[in-house]
Amino acid sequence: MKIVIANWKMNLLSAEAANFCQAFKAGYSPKPGCEIGIAPPATLLREVSAHLAGSGVQVYAQNGYFEQKGAFTGEISMGQIKDAGCHGVILGHSERRHIFGEMDENLVKKLKAAWECELMPVLCIGETLTQRDAGFTLDVLHAQLDVLKLTGPGPLVLAYEPVWAIGTGRVAETAQIEEVHAFIHDELLRLWSGRGMEVPIQYGGSVTPENFAGILKVPFVAGGLVGGASLDPAKFLKLAEQAQAAI
Ligand code: PGA
Repeated sequence: MKIVIANWKMNLLSAEAANFCQAFKAGYSPKPGCEIGIAPPATLLREVSAHLAGSGVQVYAQNGYFEQKGAFTGEISMGQIKDAGCHGVILGHSERRHIFGEMDENLVKKLKAAWECELMPVLCIGETLTQRDAGFTLDVLHAQLDVLKLTGPGPLVLAYEPVWAIGTGRVAETAQIEEVHAFIHDELLRLWSGRGMEVPIQYGGSVTPENFAGILKVPFVAGGLVGGASLDPAKFLKLAEQAQAAI
């Protein structure tokens, strides 16, 4: 199974999103075994869901809060995300962790809240350059994956995104991706036994149509979480086709 998700981050306005969806749908045909998703900003969730209805492309939110409702100014609940037509929600993206102080403790609650609303969570993990240079990559990932011990098993997509490769144009080397994905695979087995084997592990960080086919060949890489290259429908279509060809 392969899964490619466009993470639009804080980009695109309504008309641009409509154009993107039209252009993408014109070239896209779904293929069993390969899921495609788009994660627009919260303001566009409902309309992107409407544009993509019937296309086989799923919509994800970029974040969500764990409480169901109440006085939490600026937040959106998992129920509201579901209500906007979404299939899933990205959680723990490095920009949430590093710019907005997202904590692992909250992620346990967010994962559970997503499951309660039947949303597919995409949990992001990854080390910073300082942590990699100091030789702590696997320790950092081990600690970040510990949230899964606290939640117990459930439907999940995992995204390995080395922080130093996000939006930098600096993609991780094949050997680095291979080491980490094999490690995550083993950790999932340790944490969730057989259920852990069902979790697709995406790579993210400066994925482009030029490097994606090679990344998809790495063992235990089940697709990609794509930022910059996902803002161009032609590029994102190429990435979708590459993942379909890699099934
Ligand atoms: P990038 O972003 O493809 O622009 O590096 C990936 C991500 O942050 O999900």
